[in-house]
This record gives sequence, C-alpha cells and structure tokens, in this order.
Amino acid sequence: MAEGLFAQRLTQAMNQRHLKQIDIVRRAPEFGVHLGKSHVSQYVSGKTIPRDETVHALADMLGVSASWLIGNSDDMTRIEPSTPASSQSGTQPEHHDNSAASTKGTTMRHFGKSSKLDNVLYDVRGPVVDEAARMEASGTHVLKLNIGNPAPFGFRTPDEVVYDMAQQLTDCEGYSDSKGLFSARKAIMQYAQIKNIPNVTIDGIYTGNGVSELINLSMSALLDNGDEVLVPSPDYPLWTACVTLAGGTAVHYICDEQSEWYPDIEDMRKKITDRTKAIVIINPNNPTGALYPPEVLQQIVDLAREHQLMIFSDEIYDRLVMDGLKHVSIASMAPDLFCVTFSGLSKSHMIAGYRVGWMVLSGNKEIAKDYIEGLNMLTNMRICSNVPAQSIIQTALGGHQSVNDYIVPGGRIYEQREYIYEALNSIPGVSAVKPKAAFYIFPKLDVKRFGIKDDEKFALDLLREQKLLIVQGSGFNWHQPDHFRVVYLPRIEVLKDASTKLRDFLSTYYQ
Ligand SMILES: Cc1ncc(COP(=O)(O)O)c(C=O)c1O
Repeated sequence: MAEGLFAQRLTQAMNQRHLKQIDIVRRAPEFGVHLGKSHVSQYVSGKTIPRDETVHALADMLGVSASWLIGNSDDMTRIEPSTPASSQSGTQPEHHDNSAASTKGTTMRHFGKSSKLDNVLYDVRGPVVDEAARMEASGTHVLKLNIGNPAPFGFRTPDEVVYDMAQQLTDCEGYSDSKGLFSARKAIMQYAQIKNIPNVTIDGIYTGNGVSELINLSMSALLDNGDEVLVPSPDYPLWTACVTLAGGTAVHYICDEQSEWYPDIEDMRKKITDRTKAIVIINPNNPTGALYPPEVLQQIVDLAREHQLMIFSDEIYDRLVMDGLKHVSIASMAPDLFCVTFSGLSKSHMIAGYRVGWMVLSGNKEIAKDYIEGLNMLTNMRICSNVPAQSIIQTALGGHQSVNDYIVPGGRIYEQREYIYEALNSIPGVSAVKPKAAFYIFPKLDVKRFGIKDDEKFALDLLREQKLLIVQGSGFNWHQPDHFRVVYLPRIEVLKDASTKLRDFLSTYYQ
C-alpha cells in the first residue's frame, strides 16, 4: 500500500537524520508548512499520506527526493537544494503553505491557519462529519448519531421559557454586566446553594455563550506555555482543545472501562508533575455516560489537596441522571480548594441553541486572586454573553423540571438508554458499559475480530456503507482504535434502524 511505503521511507529518512516526530513538527514552519503531532504520527504509522506540498516540505527537510519519498522512484538522492524556506535567498521552495508564489510578476500570497491550531482536535464536527455533509449535499440521507443536540430529536424548550424570553426581549437590547444579569446570577447562586457548593458569591458567577465559551476563557486566563492540566481520556474534546490553544499541555488520565469508566486515580497521580496546575473532571461524563460516586470524588479531592491543584468540574449533564442516583458536585467536598464548576441549559434543560452556560467559582478564592483578575479581564473583553438568553435562566432553573420526566422508567431518555444498551451488547464483537447519566454510550469493538487499526476509517466505512454517522473514539482523545460514541437522543424506532445497520455492517466488516 502507498501509505505503508511512504511511512517506511519517511521513517528511514528520519532515522538517517536522527530526527524524531517532534523535530519534524518543530521544523515544519521553516519549510513553509505547519504540522501537528497528530499529522506526523499519522504519516509515520502509515494511516495517511500528506498533501503534495507537505510531501515536498518533508523531502526538503529530510534532504531526500520527493518522488522517492512518495514511492514514485527508487532513487533517494534529491536534486533540489535542502535549505529551509525562511533562510533561502532569492528562490522559494516550489510547494508550501503560506507561500508567496509569483504569477506573471505579481506576488500571490496564501493564508494558512495559525500554528496555535496545529495540535487542536475537534472531531465531533471533523472530517467524518464533512464527508456526511458531502453525502447529504448529493441527496443521500444520513442517520446521525454523532452530536448531542436535543432539539432535532423532538426535545423542545418548555413553552414557559420561550414565553418568558419573548416577554423580556425589549428589556434585553443593551449589554448586561459583563458577568451577566443579576437575576440570572442570583438563580445560579441559589442552584449552587442547593448543590452545597461552598463560598459562592454573585461576583464569582459568570454567564457565557454556552459552557464552551467559558471553557475557552477559563483555560486562556490560567495557562502559560508548558503548564499542564490533567484531562480525562476519553474526554469531551473541547477541554483538550482549549488547554492546547491556551499554550498548555493536556495530560490525559485514563478513565477505566472495567470500573464503570471511573477515573483511574493511580494513573492521575502518576501524571502529576511540577507543571500541573489543575484537574478537569467531566461528571456526568460525555462520552461514557458515567456518574462519579462520592467515594471517587473524594479520592480526586484528596489528590488535588495533596498537590495543591485547582479543580475544574464540567457538570453540564447534572440533571440527566438515572436509576435513582444523585449527582454530587465535587466542589461541595472541597471547601479548602479552589474549584470552578460549569453548567448550563444546553443539556440538562435541552435548550442548546440559546447558548446559555455559566461557571461558578467556589472554595478558597484567596489563593486564586490573580487568576480571578485574569478571568475578569477576559470576561470584560468579550463584553457580556447573549442577554435575551440570560433572561430565561431564572425561569429554566426554577419550578417544574421537564427533564425529570425523561429520566425515569417510561421516559424517553431512560427507555432509549435501555434499548440502545441491549441492542449494542447483542451485536457480536460489541460490548458497552451501561450509562447512568447524560445521553451517550461509548461501546467497545473487538478490534481483533474486525481487524480495526484506524477508528476514523471505521467511522468512514460505516458512514459510506450504511449512511450511519457516529464519532470514533479517537475524537474523544481515546488512544486505542477500539471505541466509538453513540448519541441515543433519537426515538427507539430510529435507534432500532441504527443498530440493525451497525449489526449488518459488522457482520462482514474487516479492516
Ligand atoms: C461535557 C460537555 N461540556 C460542555 C459542552 C458544551 O456545551 P454548551 O452548549 O453549553 O457550549 C458539551 C457539549 O456537548 C459537553 O458535552
């Protein structure tokens, strides 16, 4: 296979020059391209072959002929000079991004993306989804189990919430306080009190355009280059992406499938270094559907206390908990530590499109004074979150919670979970831990049986053959090609159709 030959020749040339993958990533900009660690590792492992301009840049860097590298010639010797683009006088390399190519005497400039995005991964809306969009554009219907967006599956915003927003629209024409409307923050504060989160004040509550905006903001305010944050694997990939974008390093701790997908505390402990600033937990969890019991949370608190780490807890699914279990906020167990708790209306209230999220600072704020100043600077810089959306927080948080009807026997989320759990586990070669919360399940594939080496290819093959869209485990920073995530928001008839398609596909699939 061409990929295999390319990988073999790339490795040979790298070895000759004593270059490691990280050296290739670092030197790439000198040769006019930007490469992330994941790109290089995919080339070296034979998963993909890069684009033409990248092949030429690699050949320049390694001092070999591009046609040899790509497998079109057996002569390794290069004819072109091997000087980096940046240090060339006069001549520019033939192919590269961000280059200034000369056409008829005019210089045409190309614009590449920022190298800050090189190691950023967000495959929940990545290449497989792009392929699904192409298929849909050409008239093919795709069954989508890839994104946790409740509205398209018939989970509607309660009428009262829509009515209240309409009533308040004319009062929401101006900017609000940068952290949010007083009434909204008061309602969030009362919610935090119900969850026993200590030392919460109105000042320590920030609204955002979804939790997404606040994850980004909270990491940007915290991290210097090289600072480390412990992030779960698998994770909701925005966490890793925002740590990386802020210049930090996301160090992944394992969540253990054998133990209900709970964080592996020993693995967490092993990965703490002098540069570690914080632990991120996602509880209830996306993509596994796990809910962490107090014993597990206590061990995380103990570790954070021992190493003086901050705790960031993403609790956006906190009301979507089944089987009579109760969600406990980790912040309620750590009054002496500095904690930031995230939640919002997108999931627990099924109102994703209005973009309402918040974060709550709690515990020992004295130790985080300077960080809080940073948070305030960034919060002021984005002026405020969407004001009409803030105006419904009070209504949504108080009174009857329609979500409670979904999570008990007879309710949609509960019954759909029961169905998908049984259906997936009945497929030969597939096994899944039963989720206790949220609306995701993260099944395991028997990689030996299906010969799976590349889970993105698995997702693409499934999409092309059965028109079924799921997200591969690597999209959640899971480092084996043996898992995928299913969103079980669709009604049972649709889930039935999806599991039949998956069963049919896997009955003959071998990668
Ligand atoms: C764990 C987790 N956190 C945050 C978000 C983002 O939520 P929001 O819609 O509030 O931006 C999601 C969305 O899927 C999520 O799963």
